[in-house]
Amino acid sequence: MEQIANGIWKLVLGEPEDKTPVSFQTVPMKKESLKNLPLRNVEPFICSKIDFQITQRGTAVTLPMETEEDIYGFGLQLKSMNHAGRKRKIRVNSDPPGDTGESHAPAPFYISSSGYGLFADTFRYADFYMGTNSAKGASANKTEVNQKHEEFSESALYSLKRIKETRTIRIDIPHVKGITLYIFAGDLLETVQRYNLFSGGGCLPPLWGLGVWYRAYGGSDQEKILEIANELRNENIPVDVLGLEPGWQSHSYSCTYSWSSLFPNPDVMISQLKNTGYKVNCWEHAFVYPAAEIYEELLPLSGDYEVWNGLVPDFSMEQTRKVFGSYHERELIEKGIMGFKLDECDNSDYNPSNWSFPDGTCFPSGMDGEQMHNGIGFLYQAMILELFQKRNLRTLSQTRSSGALSAPLPFVLYSDLYNHKEFIRGMVTSGFSGMLWSPEVRSCENPRDLLRRVETVVFSAQALLNCWRIPSPPWKQVDVEKNLNGEKMEGSEFYTEVCVRYLNLRMSLLPYLYSAFVLYQREGIPPVRAVVLDYPLDSRAAVLDDQYLFGEGLMVCPLTLEDETSRKVYLPEGKWYDFFSGEIFEGGMEYQRKADYDQIPVFVKAGSLIPLAEPVECVKADTVFKIHVRTYGTSAASFTLYEGDFLTFTDEPDRNYVIIRSDENGSLSWKRNGKGSIRYEFQEGGII
Ligand code: GAL
Repeated sequence: MEQIANGIWKLVLGEPEDKTPVSFQTVPMKKESLKNLPLRNVEPFICSKIDFQITQRGTAVTLPMETEEDIYGFGLQLKSMNHAGRKRKIRVNSDPPGDTGESHAPAPFYISSSGYGLFADTFRYADFYMGTNSAKGASANKTEVNQKHEEFSESALYSLKRIKETRTIRIDIPHVKGITLYIFAGDLLETVQRYNLFSGGGCLPPLWGLGVWYRAYGGSDQEKILEIANELRNENIPVDVLGLEPGWQSHSYSCTYSWSSLFPNPDVMISQLKNTGYKVNCWEHAFVYPAAEIYEELLPLSGDYEVWNGLVPDFSMEQTRKVFGSYHERELIEKGIMGFKLDECDNSDYNPSNWSFPDGTCFPSGMDGEQMHNGIGFLYQAMILELFQKRNLRTLSQTRSSGALSAPLPFVLYSDLYNHKEFIRGMVTSGFSGMLWSPEVRSCENPRDLLRRVETVVFSAQALLNCWRIPSPPWKQVDVEKNLNGEKMEGSEFYTEVCVRYLNLRMSLLPYLYSAFVLYQREGIPPVRAVVLDYPLDSRAAVLDDQYLFGEGLMVCPLTLEDETSRKVYLPEGKWYDFFSGEIFEGGMEYQRKADYDQIPVFVKAGSLIPLAEPVECVKADTVFKIHVRTYGTSAASFTLYEGDFLTFTDEPDRNYVIIRSDENGSLSWKRNGKGSIRYEFQEGGII
């Protein structure tokens, strides 16, 4: 057991594999930032209770768990939040058959309410048995008989008994003769912070990345893309990022990464889009079609199975990253493409097309398909990040799979799955493991569903409208077929007004959200996170998976179509204000909140200052935000806004910032630090 940083211990058991997430970590641990956390030089109690054995199946690690413990983490989890009493399989799977722990982005990392976090450094399909089992002999002294059954039901029989009882956590890592564990000390939020800082700190996107994303119709040609882009501008729809979908490539399943004949002048199109404030993001996946320019070079650098007739590059190899990366640099990034959407990098065993490679695939680096399923998203993201780091340009992109150590990688997770409540849960659970998740807006059951989904996505890490199937925006027509036929839906004016109102509210929140990401980068605090992280002793927060904290002062409680126009909200101890009306609420209790289809319950913690910018249609290099500051509560408060170019890696926010203060009377002052460009103009009073 070796202490490697403040509050972090490393434990090497047996002989671990050499190809693990830590072995490919490109962003170094933030040791300096870790020093700012509470000093923890005493090993967490759990360290002395870890045992392991090497079996013919692999390595088994065991450690005790009290049945009263709450367990969170394991990456993006759409089906549940508290994993005590569950088995979690860490296996990338785009459509898990049930609540197995599999997801687009599972991670072998968890935190326990007993005061520690644990990361197992592996790409393997590790199984975490979280108190589901007890070793032989543990029950030998049980003698009670003829007990009265409380109730005859599966839930009574199979649920974890939250009684005072010690169970065993077992971590099974197949095919390995050892494992390296990292133990993080502290309470729930602190262990998440330490893990994120160990991973390299949270990503700080360019400010434009936090604006509105609009992925355009996949059947578009160059002309249609420009038509969509102009229409959005003409109709004053705020959009920063225009996403191109598979049709931009000459062949996309698998990929050539070169422009289709439908895009005769891509450079002209990109510069026209840039001139109207758009950043262009290109869809792709990692499978290389034989007609791709880089196919021959990648042949020896790929696995021994194809996907969609394409090679699966072994991104664990420097040479592979060089071939794939230099092509992307030369042909796309240097031409103005500002980011990518890595699709189908996850895995599905049971789709008819079986579009992924077998677990037994052999890669030239010696990795196998099991490891590559859990690693390909992570490895690709690290490669793309390095391409932009070289150009001193920050990006924000999309990926459909990720895993361990993902905090510094500027990618947001998305999915083809679409259950709205699971999408909301994804925002709560991704924050435990250094991941960002977008509950993207795609098709909608009806216009009311559209409003509920736009309200949710606006209060997420990425305000993503994925219109890849429809030529017109969903507020014109939510029905895909009718949209394809150019039909406008009844009441479209109203739905357009509401959607644009929320998209503009997103633009108003950009400076506030950017500050949350600075805390993510510097202190490892997730910008979107579970309530329990800030209220670890609140038993109701421990199971709250349908509302979440958004930045430093906001609590968001989205409704889904099933909720109709009312939902229960829980406000932890303290005083809260309705963000829109200013109505005051005593915390520590639940409320039934009414919310019409154009409303979403958002609450502000008393003592918060919320800076709101007058919305702009997109973030430009010279954008100066007109800031109105809302004060909530009578106590003195402060908020730090960060300035800079919002674009480069050299624009470190700790040089240029503005501290806003309000005193007991609510009068505001602001003090600017730094020599950088001024990006905020404070408006006297006035509440927008
Ligand atoms: C899916 C992806 C969608 C869209 C589509 C294009 O796999 O999740 O967002 O990009 O491919 O073919």
